[in-house]
Amino acid sequence: MRDDDFPARGRRGRGKGRFDDDEPQFLKRGRPAEPVLTDPDPGPDDDAPGGDAWSTWDQAVHGPEPHPAWLVTELAARDTDLGVLKTGKEADVHLVRRAVPDTDRSCLLAVKRYRDAQHRLFHRDAGYLEGRRVRRSRENRAMAGRTAFGRQMIAGQWAAAEFAALSRLWEIGAEHGRISVPYPVQLLGTELMLEFVGDPDEGLAAPRLAQCRPEPAELRSLWEQLVDALVVLARAGYAHGDLSPYNLLVHAGRLVMIDLPQVVDVVANPQGPEFMARDVRVVGAWFTARGLPADDTDPAALTALLLREAGIR
Ligand SMILES: Nc1ncnc2c1ncn2[C@@H]1O[C@H](COP(=O)(O)OP(=O)(O)OP(=O)(O)O)[C@@H](O)[C@H]1O
Ligand SMILES: [Mg+2]
Repeated sequence: MRDDDFPARGRRGRGKGRFDDDEPQFLKRGRPAEPVLTDPDPGPDDDAPGGDAWSTWDQAVHGPEPHPAWLVTELAARDTDLGVLKTGKEADVHLVRRAVPDTDRSCLLAVKRYRDAQHRLFHRDAGYLEGRRVRRSRENRAMAGRTAFGRQMIAGQWAAAEFAALSRLWEIGAEHGRISVPYPVQLLGTELMLEFVGDPDEGLAAPRLAQCRPEPAELRSLWEQLVDALVVLARAGYAHGDLSPYNLLVHAGRLVMIDLPQVVDVVANPQGPEFMARDVRVVGAWFTARGLPADDTDPAALTALLLREAGIR
């Protein structure tokens, strides 16, 4: 994977209070801290609440094989939108049930739809475009000119970058363990479908680490899982690039890494080591604030370890 395949995304600037239960922006909108379901925007087409549509599996790029046994791949399946899990700055995440009618074949999916229009923050795309070589000049002009086609394309490239990163990490996790990411089910344009991390019976998403108040033993276990995952990432040559307690979910004591469109190639990207160090500082500070001894989360030592694992220093 080259640097320009996975450009660095800018910092999110959460600033003060970023270790609170949720992002201030989320609270301002009056939403509760737990990811709960709300009615999705009613749309004119057949993915309105309660409505369903044919599974898009056959039109999409599929995730790594072997496909997990729980995944419904039958073409006769229907997708039902169950509601919004979270609206974010770049994407909305919906909960969808994919089921074969009149059978017990069914699975829950988290569907992340990158915004392609005015609602996204374009300054991040500007940095992204700088680092990226796009061969076809029509596409280049469209992206530079921010035409509707160009915006759609940029959103599609974020989706594709996240799908590629999740696919690679899922394969590594399946083979060696020590890292957990949602299984990337499929990619279709600006939409990613992922394994739903949470309670399938309740349709309740796993909490973000930021919302958790783990007991000391679980806190230590989560930290150890995080170090393991970061070592795996570093050995593969990556840094997350936007790691925070909001991009880690905790499900049944297991730490699951999400939100990876900006994954950084630490070998090719001259800023790679800085991204790695920032990731470590942000999550280390959360664990220290929650009571893990500062010696155990020493950011300089962990960053040095990760750089060695990546073969850089
Ligand atoms: N596979 C999943 N299973 C369950 N919940 C998920 C899954 N993926 C994402 N979510 C929920 O949706 C939220 C947003 O996902 P993600 O961080 O990937 O998108 P984002 O648009 O970058 O969000 P933000 O701007 O808030 O960082 C997550 O914090 C999590 O609560
Ligand atoms: Mg996120």
